[in-house]
Amino acid sequence: MDREVIIPMTAHRPLLDVRDLEVAYETKGGLFRKSMTTVVKGVSFHIAPGETYGLVGESGSGKSTTGRAILRLADIAGGSIDFDGTDIAGMGSRTPLSYRRDVQAVYQDPGASLNPRHHVGRAVTDALKRHGIGDRASRRKKALESFEQVGLTAAHLDRFPSEMSGGQLQRVAIARALVLEPRLVICDEAVSALDLSTQSQIINLLMDLQKDSGVSYLFITHDLGVVRHISQRVGVLKLGELVEEGVTEELFDNPQHEYTQALLTASPSSTPEGRDERRELRQKRRVSVPSLRQAS
Ligand SMILES: Nc1ncnc2c1ncn2[C@@H]1O[C@H](COP(=O)(O)OP(=O)(O)OP(=O)(O)O)[C@@H](O)[C@H]1O
Ligand SMILES: [Mg+2]
Repeated sequence: MDREVIIPMTAHRPLLDVRDLEVAYETKGGLFRKSMTTVVKGVSFHIAPGETYGLVGESGSGKSTTGRAILRLADIAGGSIDFDGTDIAGMGSRTPLSYRRDVQAVYQDPGASLNPRHHVGRAVTDALKRHGIGDRASRRKKALESFEQVGLTAAHLDRFPSEMSGGQLQRVAIARALVLEPRLVICDEAVSALDLSTQSQIINLLMDLQKDSGVSYLFITHDLGVVRHISQRVGVLKLGELVEEGVTEELFDNPQHEYTQALLTASPSSTPEGRDERRELRQKRRVSVPSLRQAS
């Protein structure tokens, strides 16, 4: 007799399932009048455990707002955001501590979120402290481990932000996010301010960390070359609407929506020459993997 195979319910469940998301901002409608402007309009997508989902679109298309809604930093006007099977959009104003730990963010300007008067190591120990993790000594130890994971050393722990490069600061931001062992990291233009070679080091670092930890990324960027390199699937936002979505290579090779086609045409990495350059860059990146863990 055949034995019954029991497939766990969670096996195919996405980590994040965004459905019909609506986000509106209050805007001045005229003298003394206030009105709401919807900037994210019925957006749906999902992210699997360990997957990187890229979100692209022109400036003002609602990429950051979508990320902010998932982080519960923007008011959600409609739709649902299921995280590991629980709708966090429908929750009251208090975000559960576990969710605040599970979902972390890395932004474009790491310097802005670091206290200029604190050693950067403290950004990591403070994050642990906020979540009630460990005692003073073990937090310091964890901070060092996380610094080493991102290619920094013990010597960096006691530096001030002003004493570090943009790439190093971004490594601190990544360490601060990953030390909490999140399941999803929202990277909002996380490499956009960095020069090309630092950019590729940070991207490789993020990919290596994902391989080790199984974390998922929502990778928000206007840089199509970057998203092509890092994400398995991509969604294209136009004026708050998701107009196209697909497996990265398929979407880049055969874009269906004219807006996607226009974005690709406008992006240097979508031309044959640009593609060749990117390919060369990718090969160089891979070759230089051992040097990845060095601070830049
Ligand atoms: N706090 C806010 N109050 C009112 N309107 C806002 C606010 N934040 C963003 N917007 C508007 O919402 C729309 C979407 O902005 P959002 O920052 O999400 O775009 P984006 O795709 O991230 O753009 P960029 O590529 O420039 O970062 C824009 O029209 C923007 O002006
Ligand atoms: Mg943005």
